Order: sequence, then C-alpha cells, then structure tokens
Amino acid sequence: MSLRLGDIAPNFKVMTTEGEIDFYEYLGDGWGVLFSHPADYTPVCTTELGKTALLKMEFGIRNVKVLALSVDPLDKHMGWRNDINETQHCTVDFPIIADVDKVVANLYGMIHPNASETFTVRSLFIIGPDKKIKLTLTYPASTGRNFVEVLRVIDSLQLTAVYSVATPADWKHGEDVIVVPAVSTEDAMKKFDKGVKVIKPYLRYTPQPNID
Ligand code: BEZ
Repeated sequence: MSLRLGDIAPNFKVMTTEGEIDFYEYLGDGWGVLFSHPADYTPVCTTELGKTALLKMEFGIRNVKVLALSVDPLDKHMGWRNDINETQHCTVDFPIIADVDKVVANLYGMIHPNASETFTVRSLFIIGPDKKIKLTLTYPASTGRNFVEVLRVIDSLQLTAVYSVATPADWKHGEDVIVVPAVSTEDAMKKFDKGVKVIKPYLRYTPQPNID
C-alpha cells in the first residue's frame, strides 16, 4: 500500500554520496524533501539535481534537508555528481542515496511497475518535523519537476501549521491568505489584527499573518 498524507514517513539507514545516513537523524527536528529520479547520467535528472543544489539557500532558510535517490550504485552517483556540478554550475552537496537493493524505493512506493519494472519514477515527499508525510508528488520520467513549486508548498505548509489559514490557488509568500472555515468571521476579526476581507461567508481573506 502506498504512503499517504498524514502517514509516518518510514525511517531507514542507507549509503549515500555523503556517507551512511539514518534518515531520521539526518532530518533532526526540521523538514525534509525526499525525492527519487529514474537513473544517473540522464538529462532531465541532471537538471533536477542541479536546480535543487542551486536552491540550497532557499531550502536552508526554511530548515529543510534534501535527499535524492535512485537505484544506481554509489560510484555511479559520484561520477555523475561531477557532471551535474559542471553542467548546471552548482555544487551538489546534499546526499544522493544509492538504493541498489531498492529498500527505500519499495518502502516509499517509488517503483511503479506499469511505468518501469526496474527504475524509480519521479516521486517526491515533503516530511514535517513530526515525521509525517505532508505532500506526495509523482511525475513521469519525461517531465522534470518544478522545485520552486516545492518551496512554495513548503511555505504554505509551514504557515498553515501555525496559523488558522489556508493558501489560495497560486499563492506565493507575502500574498493574502484564506481564513479556514472552522474559524468564525467574528473570531477571525479578533485573531487577525491586519483585518479580514469577507467576499462570501465562506471566503475570507487576511494578509499573511507572519510577516510585517
Ligand atoms: C531523464 O532524466 O532525462 C530521463 C530519465 C529516464 C527516462 C527519460 C528521461
């Protein structure tokens, strides 16, 4: 059975390009992004890992640790990492899991046999400090993911974990957010001192509460 939102992300110990890692220890009490790609030395994957490395500061600001995975062996990862750094003008210094025995791939349901019997698809999991799965994404091999979108979701998850708000379609950090239905308009007016705009009784906006 596949992992679903709210499930506990299983722990594992694996060999990576940064040495042996215990997943939970690596995450500490922060957030995590675990993502798989089909294979090393492939073009789309090269751009994905490069983009992730270039966004290192953005993940860091949000207290997010990143971890990539494919079923290729460690020596292949090491050689390919040099190519990524060279062609994408970056430094990949997050771990890439060498999941040759497919232990993690099977734990996380990253192999979709009707897409490929042998390779992982482009799975991505966002994991919260409580080790619960907050988002799952599955993309086909032919389509590279949008890692800026991953950051946008993390912004929404981190905000909505603390405030009684949700984020509307295409929301970006700094834009107005939605008061959740569980909060009455009367309570919302007290809770959100920047004001509440009522469009419909169920559609109420307030400025993002955690910024000045
Ligand atoms: C790629 O990363 O470019 C790729 C990998 C597997 C199939 C198709 C493309």
